[in-house]
Formats: sequence, C-alpha cells, structure tokens
Amino acid sequence: MILYLSCSPRGEISFSRRMGDELVARLGGPVVTRDLGRDPPPWIDAGYSAAILAPPMPDVPPALTVSETLIRELEAADRVVIATPMHNFGVPAPLKAWVDQVVRINRTFRSTPEGKIGLLRDIPAYLVVASGGWFTGPSPAGTPAQPDFLTGYIRTVLETIGIRSLHIIAMEGVTRGPEMADRAVAGARAAIGRLLG
Ligand SMILES: Cc1cc2nc3c(=O)[nH]c(=O)nc-3n(C[C@H](O)[C@H](O)[C@H](O)COP(=O)(O)O)c2cc1C
Repeated sequence: MILYLSCSPRGEISFSRRMGDELVARLGGPVVTRDLGRDPPPWIDAGYSAAILAPPMPDVPPALTVSETLIRELEAADRVVIATPMHNFGVPAPLKAWVDQVVRINRTFRSTPEGKIGLLRDIPAYLVVASGGWFTGPSPAGTPAQPDFLTGYIRTVLETIGIRSLHIIAMEGVTRGPEMADRAVAGARAAIGRLLG
C-alpha cells in the first residue's frame, strides 16, 4: 500500500498535489490518501505531551489515538509519498502537525546513549516539493538560492523513525509565470522517469 500525504491547502490546483497524483499513479497499487491540507492533524496539546512520557499502558490512551492511527497507517505502507508546498522556507503547518503525531518516543523511535534509533522498517519515501522560488541552486536569472529548511528536516525526521530511502523531487519557480511553471512540471516528470525507469 502507498501512503499518500498531500499537504497543500490549494486542493486540485496545487502543483505538488498534481505531481504527487502523477507519481502515485506511476508507482501503482493500492493507495491510502491523507489530504493533510484539507484535514490537518491536531496540534500537539498538553494531554499528548503528558501521554508520551507516561509509563506504557495496555490500551492506547485517548490523547494518543490520532497519533496511533497515523502511525499504523505508516506501518502498513510499503511506500510513502509526501507532496508538499514550501511555506516560508519550511514545511507547511499541516505537515509539521503530521510529523509531530508520528515521530513519537518509544513508539516510532527510541532514545539511546548512541542517539535516536528508528523503530519502523525502511521503505521508499518520495518527497515532492513545489516552491515559488528556487532552493536547490540559483534561479535561472541568477538570484541566489533561498534557504531550505524543508528537505533536510523531512530527511531527518524520516531517518529518526527508520525511513532512510528518501527521494526528493523539486518543482521550483512555479509562481514565476506559466513558462517557469511548465519547466518545473517537466523537470519533475523527468526526475520521476529517472527514478522509476
Ligand atoms: C504562506 C506561503 C509561504 C510561502 N513561502 C515560500 C517560500 O518560503 N519559498 C518559496 O519558494 N515559495 C513560497 N511560497 C510559494 C509556494 O511554495 C508556491 O505557491 C507553491 O506552488 C505552493 O505549492 P502548491 O501549488 O502545491 O500549493 C509560499 C506560499 C505561501 C502561500
């Protein structure tokens, strides 16, 4: 099963969503879709903060039910696709909320003297990022690359829980006119073609 996380608030017109849809179709097989842009997971609250540090209980406490559902979805997946816009150099808030629900101590990772050890099995992960500007290098006009706190962050959090096989597909410059947008879409399609053969 492919777990498909779509993170843009812009629904059908979203660049990341449309490329994510294409990627999921190319990968093939059953899909569980989470439209985080439409239905964001709840933010972490005091109950969740207390529950993750409480001694383990036989039943999942109410404060962790959303977390448990999202983690089980990820455990059931053999591939995960995350399609997201870049917002202010980083992940949009709904994707951060998902990360906070699934990166959970003593459930998806353990803290050891050697560092954090992931408890999920490694599966291929695909991150499709749409951005208005450029972050992998200068723009075609030579404007320096902007900071990128998105791709490294997602790589780190997935590695923390055991998912190390990350492929990144960038669609840059999508708000800089139709020509640039077309170029970004074509570049992402070509990158997917190279990845999947
Ligand atoms: C609140 C907000 C913040 C944004 N921040 C950035 C940014 O830091 N860098 C960038 O290149 N584009 C930024 N953009 C532009 C989006 O990344 C761009 O519109 C992209 O298409 C969104 O992806 P989507 O089409 O999948 O929604 C921002 C857009 C919004 C709405």
